[in-house]
Amino acid sequence: MSAPANGHINAGTMDQLKERGCTVVTGGGHAIAVFCHDGQVYAVDNRCPHMGFPLDRGSVKDGILTCHWHHARFELSSGGTFNPFADDVRTFPVEVVEGQVWIDPVPPPRDEAGHWRRRLEDGMEHNLRLVIAKAALGLQSAGADYREPLGIGARFGTTYSAAGWGAAMSMLTCTANMLPHLHEEDRPRALYLGLLHVARECAGRAPRFTVDPLPTSETRPEVFAGWFRNFINVRDDEGAERCLVTAIERGVPREDIAGMIFAAATDHIYLDGGHVVDYANKAFELLDHLGWDMAGQALPSLVHGMARARRSQELSQWRDPVDLASMVWQARDELPELLERGSAHTGSWDGEDALADAILLDSPDEIIDALKQAVLHGATPQQLGAAVAHAAFLRMARFHTSNEFRDWDTVHNTLTAANALHQALKRTPTPELLRGVFDVAVSIYLDRFLNMPAQRLPDPAPASLPAGDQLDQLLDLVDSRQQVEECAQAVSGYLDSVGPPGDLMATMGRMMLREDSGFHLFQIVDAAFKQFQERQGTQSGRHVMIGLARFLAAHSPTPRAEGQTYQIALRLHRGEDMHE
Ligand code: FES
Repeated sequence: MSAPANGHINAGTMDQLKERGCTVVTGGGHAIAVFCHDGQVYAVDNRCPHMGFPLDRGSVKDGILTCHWHHARFELSSGGTFNPFADDVRTFPVEVVEGQVWIDPVPPPRDEAGHWRRRLEDGMEHNLRLVIAKAALGLQSAGADYREPLGIGARFGTTYSAAGWGAAMSMLTCTANMLPHLHEEDRPRALYLGLLHVARECAGRAPRFTVDPLPTSETRPEVFAGWFRNFINVRDDEGAERCLVTAIERGVPREDIAGMIFAAATDHIYLDGGHVVDYANKAFELLDHLGWDMAGQALPSLVHGMARARRSQELSQWRDPVDLASMVWQARDELPELLERGSAHTGSWDGEDALADAILLDSPDEIIDALKQAVLHGATPQQLGAAVAHAAFLRMARFHTSNEFRDWDTVHNTLTAANALHQALKRTPTPELLRGVFDVAVSIYLDRFLNMPAQRLPDPAPASLPAGDQLDQLLDLVDSRQQVEECAQAVSGYLDSVGPPGDLMATMGRMMLREDSGFHLFQIVDAAFKQFQERQGTQSGRHVMIGLARFLAAHSPTPRAEGQTYQIALRLHRGEDMHE
């Protein structure tokens, strides 16, 4: 038998192969199916790229190999698939020497990152969750930066939905925000979930057509801001979008772009229950990851939702039995003068905890007055935002489980609005955006029934177990339903025993990723991580994590179906047997 060098594998004689039709050889870490079809020899990876079924059990006709598991079809000579839900199968070079069949177990090189980028685009376009999971894993293995899949998802999500920026784009941004806090092995899973929700949200929707900038030489930020706010005010989304696109294209500074968007987002009271500020904040966070070059793509996608948003001053609960909207309007009108007077004391206010307690009072007059006093005494927009966010987390930490289950959504909505406002105020501390603190504080007031009775916070008590065991115990707890108080106690004990805060965040991230987590869970975890980072070692940090623990525990366990898909992708990625 004459043997080609370089580790080629003998697959028997040509006559044997013709008789059998197919044989399987192993080498180089691969099981290779060798087919003889129409007198030609072909070698392909024996694992179907879809879900690993052995391809030697498939059938060949007219040069097409059909897998017998879900009937994906492959062009035998190239391995290219006819079915996007599968993938191209790797092929191996073949030589026939003196009647002997030899297989080179080293497949031709391919650009792994490029391959998985294309597959991710296929997965997004066809809403194929397994393909998206494989691509997230493949890109990580190929050494691609997280911004590659993030950018693909962001461009897709802001292009293929006529409704513009939605919940899924916010989830994708939450994913990017939380990646540094997750265990490394959980990062592709997080990206998979974020990308999957974008694909799902866009599936079947009309695309969003972009508008061209005006042919103007105008560059003054205040002119664009005036136009933009007026267009949003009269619900003219087309005019507002063209104005915004032009401002970006004409090079208006990003701080001014942010200022005009957040001003328009707060020109009316609590637009869409805080979602307008939340989405705008998320869009800017996305640009923090992907760069300002994406601004012309991402920011205009906000406009449709801003123009159509529900204005809370038109809602009965903001008008009756107490005219809360009028109280907020009045406070907003007083704000410029309060800021002017308070500027003499800037830097001397440190009353966040007391203000957070005041925001939880039962009297809207006292709440608004407490905010005004804080401004008068020099509280900065960032400090006011922090106090409102702290109050919102306290509302959640004290949420009583005797409430209806869906009331978790009510407390969640206010909390994410409060966090978004706080984050936005750190970026854009303008008087216009600061008006939003009155809106969110009143929303916290409207949620007061959720703390009647108020759930007692766990007493400070260090846990006795080592930190790692405590975190394992926390994961075990959420395998059972409604371990709300137990989880709060476990997190409290961990913090009181001064366990590493990063490990706690990674574990709570894993708690979320294991479940079939939707928009709300992503938002809560992202908000809690951001707030906790700034508050480590403080009582307010403890409140944040207790609130997060209670919310996660209340929403666990789910069927964990998304995790099943991810586990299949992971086993395929690792080359594990799927059908033996
Ligand atoms: S088509 Fe081959 S495993 Fe699904």
